[in-house]
Amino acid sequence: MKIGVFDSGVGGLTVLRALLKHIPEADYLYLGDTARLPYGAKSRATVARYATSSARHLIAEGAEFLVIACNTASALALDAIREAVAVPVLGVVETGANAADASSTTRDVLVIATAATVESHAYTAACAERKLRAIEKACPLLVPLVEEGWIESPVTAEVLRIYMAELMEQARGAGLDADTLVLGCTHYPLLRAQIEKAVPAPLRVIDSAEATAEQVARMLGAGSRELGAGGQEPGASVRFFATDSVTKFRALGSRFLGRSIEDVRLVDLGG
Ligand code: DGL
Repeated sequence: MKIGVFDSGVGGLTVLRALLKHIPEADYLYLGDTARLPYGAKSRATVARYATSSARHLIAEGAEFLVIACNTASALALDAIREAVAVPVLGVVETGANAADASSTTRDVLVIATAATVESHAYTAACAERKLRAIEKACPLLVPLVEEGWIESPVTAEVLRIYMAELMEQARGAGLDADTLVLGCTHYPLLRAQIEKAVPAPLRVIDSAEATAEQVARMLGAGSRELGAGGQEPGASVRFFATDSVTKFRALGSRFLGRSIEDVRLVDLGG
């Protein structure tokens, strides 16, 4: 099975990392649309155009199953992608909502994501389908902080403290008794420890990367075989594509994937 994984940049490598752990026997094609990111501040029409051209590229390279690792593309462009390609497509909004469904006993959940994802209310809709109430909050400063590698920085800790305090206030105002927090952006799993410190202890944090890999493994009937952090079976192949500097992709991507990235092919998908 050739699994195509798509993200606006390197953030989706957190999903690839989880996939490699759960389905080490598959072959992977990863495309980061680094020339056109960030998607999180763009309109639905633009995100749909970028995401469908990226998805078509992965199909042309042989992908038989697509994982849309980018929350913004999943929230704004999943239907457009499904129309554009003839293989099964799974988006991370759906898998995140499924994980929230399994986690929440109070049936109230919180979601943090990019501005575009929040404005689309895709998570609220996906949660409502599962009889969950959801409050969404945009945290636009977190993507650039993670891209800069400021994971442990006191600046990031303070930004998180403010965002999380605002989110809790929003939840209180709406009368929610939330027990689950969904990390609705590819970059946030890298801040998981810091986020857990910034929220009240009983809140369970859902990393949609793990939830996605588990769901793909179930869908493909693959045995869930834990190989340890970043573990990969010999023979599992990964081909990387980026639409901008391969040097930058290699350097930044290694941090998200948890291991070094060697060959990255530059592709031109137009504007
Ligand atoms: N990949 C995006 C997401 O998960 C974050 C980065 C971007 O805005 O492009 O929403």
